[in-house]
Order: sequence, then C-alpha cells, then structure tokens
Amino acid sequence: MVDWEVKCAERTHYMTRSAIREILKLTQRPDIISFAGGLPAPELFPVDRVREAADLVLTERGTEALQYSASEGVAELRDLIAERMSRRGVQVTRDNILIVNGAQQGIELIGQVLLDEGDSLVVEDPTYMGMLQAWRPYNLCYHTVPTDHDGLDIDALREVLKAHPKLLYLVPNFQNPQGVTLSLERRRQLIALLDEFDGLVVEDNPYGELRFGGEDLPSLYEIDAEYSGKRALDGRVIYLGTFSKILAPGVRVGWIAAPMAIMEKLVQAKQAADLHSSPLTQLIVSATARDGFLDKHILTLREVYRDRRDVMMDAIATYFPEDVHFVKPEGGLFLMVHAPKHLDMTALFKVALDHKVAYVPGADFYVGGAAAGGHTFRLNFSNARPAMIEEGIKRLGAMLKDVLVPQYMP
Ligand SMILES: Cc1ncc(COP(=O)(O)O)c(C=O)c1O
Repeated sequence: MVDWEVKCAERTHYMTRSAIREILKLTQRPDIISFAGGLPAPELFPVDRVREAADLVLTERGTEALQYSASEGVAELRDLIAERMSRRGVQVTRDNILIVNGAQQGIELIGQVLLDEGDSLVVEDPTYMGMLQAWRPYNLCYHTVPTDHDGLDIDALREVLKAHPKLLYLVPNFQNPQGVTLSLERRRQLIALLDEFDGLVVEDNPYGELRFGGEDLPSLYEIDAEYSGKRALDGRVIYLGTFSKILAPGVRVGWIAAPMAIMEKLVQAKQAADLHSSPLTQLIVSATARDGFLDKHILTLREVYRDRRDVMMDAIATYFPEDVHFVKPEGGLFLMVHAPKHLDMTALFKVALDHKVAYVPGADFYVGGAAAGGHTFRLNFSNARPAMIEEGIKRLGAMLKDVLVPQYMP
C-alpha cells in the first residue's frame, strides 16, 4: 500500500477543498431554495447567440479554432478586451492582456509569478475565498484590513503597509462576499498609499460592470494611471477580468491586464500551466460579444439583478429579525448578513437545510475563520427568480427568529 500522505509534497498540506463547492453539493435538492452559489441567472445565458457564434467560428475559422494557439490568447479577443478597458481614457493595448481560464486561473498565475512561500499579503476581511484557496500552498502571512460600507479602512491599510507586504489583493466593486464597494475617495487614497510604500495591488473585478445603483466609479488601474500621469496600464495595478458574470461562467474565459514589464513572466506561467486557453472558446466569446451585443446584454443583466436585489431587500425587511446587519449592494450578486455574534451560522446551515433554504456560512471568507466570521453568511440574489427569493428569505427569517428566541432564564 502506498502511503500517499507521506508521498505528497509539503505544500499540499496547506491545501483544502472549497467550502462553497462542498456546500453546493448539498443544495442541489429541488425542494431547497439556494442562495448559496455565486451563480448567474441561467435563463439569461444568451444560448442562441452563442450557438450562432459557434457556428460562424467553425464555418469561417474552423481549423484555426481547433489548432494549438498563442499562449497570450487570441488577438481579436485581446483587442476587444483592450478596447473595453480603454473606454475611460487609459490606454490599454492587446499587449497588456493575457487570456486565462477564468479569473481564478489569473489568481493562480499571479501567485506563481509574485509570491514566495511565507510572503505577506494584505486582504480585506472578509475576502474572496477562492483567492485564499489558490494561494494557500504559499503559506502566506496575512495582514487583514477591516471594511465598512465604503470598503476597506484606509487608516488600517496605512498601518499594515508599514510592514512592506508583497501584495494587496482587493475586490473593489460589489465585493464577494460582502457586496461592498470601495468609495472613490478611498480608491484615490489607496493608490497614493501604494505609491508612498512602493506597493502593488491585484484588482480583481468580476462584478464591476454589474452596477445597478449609485455612481459608476473608475477602476484602480484608471486612478493609478491618472495619479502617475501616464494614461497607460503601467503602474502598480494588476487587473483581473472575466466573462463569467457578464456572459457565462461555463466558457471559462477571463483575463489578466498587467503592465508590459510583468507580462512576459505571466505568459511563461500560463505556458507552463496549460500552453494556452482554448482558441475555440475564445473565438466564440469574441464573436458573441461583438457588434455591441455584450454591452446590451449587460444592460439586461443589470435590470434583472437590480429587481432581484430589491426583492431580497424588501423580503429581508419583512421577514428577518431586526438584529441582523448588512450593506445594501449597488451591484454584483451578493450581500453578506451579520447575525448576532453568538450565532454559529456554520452549525445552523444544517438547520437551514431543514427549512429548505441554503446560504454560504461566512467563516471561510475570513482569514481568522469562525472566530472572526462565524456569525455571518452570504446570500446570492442573481440566481433564484423573484418569487423564490421572497419565499427563501421567508424561510430563512423563520429559522433565524426561531434560534433567536430569548432563552428562558430561571
Ligand atoms: C472575486 C472573484 N474573483 C474571481 C472569481 C472567479 O471567476 P472566474 O469564473 O472568472 O474564474 C470569482 C468567482 O466567483 C470571484 O467572485
């Protein structure tokens, strides 16, 4: 018998399975209303448009689509992304763009290129669980920065930057899990601080285009360009984008947009990982998105998701107990509820399933785990239809009220 535990590399000891993916398995039952996954609304996937695009690609460019291809990605898709990222005046070019298999692979590749074992990393607390999972093998030292309704606390950030961490990882728009957005003033302060401390930031932005309330804010790479006066993507920001939330996660197409000086290393890491992303899917995504289709599609998504967010807000106001707190998201797919501190939302997950409703317990989004975020849980509002959202929140509210009934004290 092989003892695989002994044979496994040291770094595997830090690896874990994603708690969300495990939870999702439990929520597949048809009688359960699930707010657990980060799933877009499936009925909005533009299946016909993708079918036409696939047909066109295979008819007109079949051999190119099925052949090995460039590690950087298909030129026309990189151009399309560069054009979209340049719309507010910062010049992003094809050479700044590396196509990856979803932003998740982008996180993995950035880790390979920039992180050494034991490096220190600054993150929002809570932060994106998939990043924690991807970078776990590096056994990083985390500096957590608390957040409020305007995003991360800049004074706390200043303190941790004094230790000269390697990197800051941030989801500035409608953050996963909290739904919180970093304010314009704090974006400016953050870039100024990075400049002062010679820092770098990974701006992970899967949800930025799904804004349905409030004011549209410039990205960190745009503020950075403005700050340095360069008007190019050539500063302290490495940007991650994806088609997962604005088109479909099943295509697994995302991108890294980075200063040219670091591109070569990122391309080398991509090459080593999987040679290149599928040219077939890249060409299909490009043919689907073009001629203004993607922009129009995003408008539809915004409308539908705004409606679902509002239904969830109203239902929470009606059915939840009063002593829960959350920030109303102005976009994206999520919000995070802070229940009273003594509630263990991980343990209560099973009770919620008995009430035929599911959420994601918040503990795993916190670097400090259950001690820091055991009383929190994340709700997704994009996936279920409005009537189901109302019913699911009603069930969850009933459960929360049950467990919050004051105990009889003799
Ligand atoms: C903050 C964040 N980054 C990255 C990803 C991964 O996205 P992709 O499907 O492009 O790999 C997600 C997915 O939910 C996310 O929320």
